[in-house]
Amino acid sequence: MSDTNLLTVSDLTVHRGAAKILDRVNLSIAKGETLALVGESGAGKSTIATALMQLLDGAEVEGRAELQEAGDLLSLPARQMVKLRGRRLSMIFQDAGAALNPAYTVGRQLTTTLRRNLGLTRSAAHAKAIELFTSVGINDAEARLSAFPHQLSGGMQQRVMVAIALACNPDLLLADEPTSALDVTIQAQIIRLILSLTRERGASCIFVLHDLALASQSCDRIVVLYAGQVVESGPARDVLTHHRHPYTRQLESCVVEIGRHDLVAPEGTVPPHDQMPKGCRFATRCPRALDRCAGEAPPLTPANPAKDGALDHVFACWNPE
Ligand SMILES: Nc1ncnc2c1ncn2[C@@H]1O[C@H](COP(=O)(O)OP(=O)(O)OP(=O)(O)O)[C@@H](O)[C@H]1O
Ligand code: SF4
Ligand SMILES: [Mg+2]
Repeated sequence: MSDTNLLTVSDLTVHRGAAKILDRVNLSIAKGETLALVGESGAGKSTIATALMQLLDGAEVEGRAELQEAGDLLSLPARQMVKLRGRRLSMIFQDAGAALNPAYTVGRQLTTTLRRNLGLTRSAAHAKAIELFTSVGINDAEARLSAFPHQLSGGMQQRVMVAIALACNPDLLLADEPTSALDVTIQAQIIRLILSLTRERGASCIFVLHDLALASQSCDRIVVLYAGQVVESGPARDVLTHHRHPYTRQLESCVVEIGRHDLVAPEGTVPPHDQMPKGCRFATRCPRALDRCAGEAPPLTPANPAKDGALDHVFACWNPE
């Protein structure tokens, strides 16, 4: 593992019964870096994030996920994970309304996090909560602390979630499509807010997103997933403008701009797990498929082996663009 990598995920594989939901996923994230996980519904993006948090239920998990100075997130005992969550890594879920507890005020939920993880007194936690609410753009922060989740708009609830997730200055934030449940006009604001706050704090961020254009506008690096496998990854600009995998091209042609919501999915659908091709999983939808594709899985290959550092941009395809 490189010294600069905060997290290195190696061969992360997740089974649910006979279905292989993730297949040998490798990725790493440097300190302060923003990484986008991109792919259509069912690709396994949330499964990666929840596996890293040890929050996956009913699944068999293999591989390693080394977090600097903590060890393997996939095999740490539950009591150590409890200590890490919030402090070293935290997660913002897609639906803030469901993630917040309806029975407690948002202020109580935030101050509980602060008191439990940082050991703050009641009054220090209250003062810090006001500061955090203000930093995520909640007006009249002190009054809002006594609101229950249902008294806030969806955008406001997501700001509360951002405040809770960043409350203890985690090294790594996992943001799982944090804006897809929101009104389009609020989406760009929340994404920019999360990125500016994580950058300000020097934290790293794994952003789960549906679309490539949004990822390239907001993140340093992109990992494209298809049916549980990494099909292409690299620096955001390379993956957007010099992509080699036909699936990445299809995602690229479904461009949406930040703040718009008219995503068009690539043609066709991902095969069910029991009908997945043995070789390239994209073979049933690929316009460039060759005879060998369905039977033989393509390995990840450097996009430009002659160029220094180009190993960083890799793709898995027998007949690349
Ligand atoms: N609790 C579960 N039980 C059974 N299968 C599941 C469960 N959660 C996820 N899956 C399956 O795992 C695969 C990956 O799901 P995942 O939620 O990680 O995809 P995703 O990329 O996050 O999709 P989306 O964009 O829709 O959120 C899908 O085939 C899904 O049906
Ligand atoms: S390996 Fe074959 S089927 Fe898979 S993406 Fe490449 S050309 Fe298409
Ligand atoms: Mg998901």
